[in-house]
Amino acid sequence: MTTSLGRLEDFPIDKPTSVKVDGTSYLVVRRSADGDQVCVVRDKCPHAGLSLSSGPRGGYADGVLTCPWHNSQFDVCTGENLDWAPGFAGIRAPGWSRKLIAMGKSPAGLTLLEVEVRDGEIVTVD
Ligand code: FES
Repeated sequence: MTTSLGRLEDFPIDKPTSVKVDGTSYLVVRRSADGDQVCVVRDKCPHAGLSLSSGPRGGYADGVLTCPWHNSQFDVCTGENLDWAPGFAGIRAPGWSRKLIAMGKSPAGLTLLEVEVRDGEIVTVD
């Protein structure tokens, strides 16, 4: 069964937008760099399980999502981890402290939700 996330034009380009699918929070990113690519990731950081969309200082630029808590960075379309817990709240920590900030967790990627655009609507793919 497919689930609609909404009309494509309702999602601003290059601005992660929160949606809920079956009670789970996701971020929809409509990318301009690759035409009208739509990428959807679970709004939960694999580091400490905190929200990627709310916190002290995160962000999104050029396909890279930065966690607002410990600054881990992820490719928003592949989910790949690009940098793992390098600091806190937007401030880069010294290299020696990174293991402490990582709290013993190994780098991991984001959970992706597979979607496609059908008749102008973003829907999940079974
Ligand atoms: S919770 Fe995201 S980097 Fe720690």
